[in-house]
Amino acid sequence: MKQSKIKIKWPNNVETYANEGDDWFLVAEKAGIVIPTGCLTGSCGACEIDVNGDTVRACISNIKKGKKCLLKVSFTTDPFWEI
Ligand code: FES
Repeated sequence: MKQSKIKIKWPNNVETYANEGDDWFLVAEKAGIVIPTGCLTGSCGACEIDVNGDTVRACISNIKKGKKCLLKVSFTTDPFWEI
């Protein structure tokens, strides 16, 4: 069975295609985006991104198909850390 590609739109408006299970960091890099990292174990939250409104920790999750065929990614903001 042929696997269909997942279209991802990044905060810089670049669109890339990925397969389900691909690594967020590698696909982001292809779009010219660097997702910040810290612990790489899922505990610090430095790598959090919003994917179609849901917060995802990129270091402990892979790309999954959503209900929509387009995944819109933005950086998660934390109002407690904003000036
Ligand atoms: S790098 Fe710390 S939660 Fe992902």
